[in-house]
Amino acid sequence: MGEAFIEAHNLIKTYRAGKKTVVALDGLSLSVPKGTVQALLGPNGAGKTTTVKVLTTLIRPDSGSAHIDGVDVMENPERIRRMIGVSGQYAAVDENLTGFENLDMVGRLYHLSPAQSKARALELIEMFDLVEAADRVVKGFSGGMRRRIDLAGALVVNPPVLFLDEPTTGLDPRSRLALWDVIKSLVAGGTTVLLTTQYLEEADQLADNIAVIDEGKVIAQGSGDELKLLVGGQRVEITVHNLDQVEAARKVLARHVDGEITTGADERTLVGPVVNAAKTLQVVLKDLADSGVELNDAGMRRPTLDDVFLQLTGHKVESVNA
Ligand SMILES: Nc1ncnc2c1ncn2[C@@H]1O[C@H](COP(=O)(O)OP(=O)(O)OP(=O)(O)O)[C@@H](O)[C@H]1O
Ligand SMILES: [Mg+2]
Repeated sequence: MGEAFIEAHNLIKTYRAGKKTVVALDGLSLSVPKGTVQALLGPNGAGKTTTVKVLTTLIRPDSGSAHIDGVDVMENPERIRRMIGVSGQYAAVDENLTGFENLDMVGRLYHLSPAQSKARALELIEMFDLVEAADRVVKGFSGGMRRRIDLAGALVVNPPVLFLDEPTTGLDPRSRLALWDVIKSLVAGGTTVLLTTQYLEEADQLADNIAVIDEGKVIAQGSGDELKLLVGGQRVEITVHNLDQVEAARKVLARHVDGEITTGADERTLVGPVVNAAKTLQVVLKDLADSGVELNDAGMRRPTLDDVFLQLTGHKVESVNA
């Protein structure tokens, strides 16, 4: 990997909320090589949006430093803004303009010629499957359409650095896959991308490196495979029919899993990490049947953000925001 293209060092950001002080960033550091995808993975309130806002010059941190391609973010916000594209939870589209007009406006703001700007707007409308929405005002758009027009806006000028704050939240599965493809092709063309997500699977699909964020800090880093290894690869999950058979089921499961068994919120679902999920599931099912344990459900699954958090912090994902 090359040297850092996006670099943040020891960022601290606090907010005053009434009488309380909220520490949104608590010494967050990042280093992203050029042409790679960095994911910030974390639950609600972890500090993802705050990080993106600092790096895109929307807010200033209390302390710490940040550079993009060697340019100081806090000292040269104008230069930074010309290098980046942003799409996010706060991004502004003009409600009274049509989809097409919004994209054209961005192009003109970035000094494309009228012809170039219109051509690019049309291209993006095709790319994001917004053809029917092109001539309608944004006010009447569905959540997913808004998301897509906002994303398209970030791509108008092919910036070398792209910040995407939860780009696929609220998208249907087809749009999500389409967006993944767009991101992959941009990166193949040399764009550096920093995106935030609450989905381990998404980070794994897209990112070269994943920083797991909790309470304003990076608590773990690595590729998707490295993080999954950390939390023990695949899982076997069973749900018993009768609550009074949970302990019997736990005993059976304990003989076959390679780590701690966790209990779901419904008290009757048990999950354990395993090396070979398919094989283990077969054996577990046979043993459970032999023990007379009745099941409602059984299966294998991949680790989620919840599993990562449980492993790294010893506690479940807590929703900070009411
Ligand atoms: N303008 C603000 N005023 C007060 N507190 C804020 C403000 N913005 C963010 N916070 C707080 O800072 C913390 C980090 O928020 P942030 O928006 O960065 O989290 P996030 O990881 O983006 O969460 P989400 O997944 O919900 O988007 C939270 O506790 C949040 O409540
Ligand atoms: Mg956010």
